[in-house]
Amino acid sequence: MDNTEMKDIQWFPGHMAKTRRLIQSNLSLVDGIVEILDARTPLSSRNPEMDRLTTGKPKMILLNKCDMADEKITSLWIDYFKSIGITAIAVDCKNGKGVKNFLPVLKSKVLNELLEKRNAQGMVGRPIRLMIVGIPNVGKSSFINKMAQSKRTKVEDRPGVTRTKQWVKIGEGAEMLDMPGVLWPKFDDQNVACKLAFTGAIKDDILDIEALAMKLLANLAVNYPDTLASRYKIDISENDSGFDLLEKVGRKRGMLISGGEINTERAAITVLDEYRSGKLGRITLEKPDDFCDGEN
Ligand code: G4P
Repeated sequence: MDNTEMKDIQWFPGHMAKTRRLIQSNLSLVDGIVEILDARTPLSSRNPEMDRLTTGKPKMILLNKCDMADEKITSLWIDYFKSIGITAIAVDCKNGKGVKNFLPVLKSKVLNELLEKRNAQGMVGRPIRLMIVGIPNVGKSSFINKMAQSKRTKVEDRPGVTRTKQWVKIGEGAEMLDMPGVLWPKFDDQNVACKLAFTGAIKDDILDIEALAMKLLANLAVNYPDTLASRYKIDISENDSGFDLLEKVGRKRGMLISGGEINTERAAITVLDEYRSGKLGRITLEKPDDFCDGEN
């Protein structure tokens, strides 16, 4: 049996229809959409319904958590989005890197036509209004907090929570709705589900941690072998399965249980934690080419 085989990740959160309604009912209030994606998984962290739900609104993409993503691949993604007509920039909303580029790029490349039109009509003082959208954990709250010019209350992720609409001032002539549109990723494709689980976008309590870590290790052994080998000081051979790699990591870290057996569960938790916290280095799990080739 393939040791990395795992049960399909299934996750059907409720409230999806409510969330869709929430986004759609607020759409007429905003001038543009800011879609936040995880720079390590730009397509997997993109809900495919987002485009349909936000049709007709200018859109800008933020590739967030760029501090943990492979810089070269992030540039490829920016080019890719440009090729399909969407302006994207890389940001790190934890430390604020790239965030100051947001408004200038938005005004000059995404909302330029609208602003010119408003200027021509003499509507100079009207603020730009924006809606932030994205799947859970991509950094919507972090972004709003970085941009907000005054203290704000914690945004709840629970969709459908009724509260008064709040507009947060985020700079000269711009405001955003302090209620991000939260959509969940599509889980039809288990590759997508695994990548989201690697980054922690899917909570561990519904996952088989060991199987997941084996899949991540197998992926890293192909795409980032040197990083993997040097972090855990292990030799990687071509025939290593995810399980072999997990055992190597556990052995090297001295994670043993009685009888000298390797504690693969502990090793799995370590590998996933280290990937998610960026200790393994800047690692991106998908490139635009993977999708053009039709592999995904
Ligand atoms: P959400 O509203 O979309 O659900 O995401 P949120 O802002 O709550 O961010 C989810 C997690 O991702 C948080 O970590 C946050 O700090 C982290 N994060 C957001 N943006 C970035 C980024 O650009 N780089 C890095 N490295 N991390 C980012 P957490 O562990 O849940 O909380 P905490 O560490 O802030 O306490």
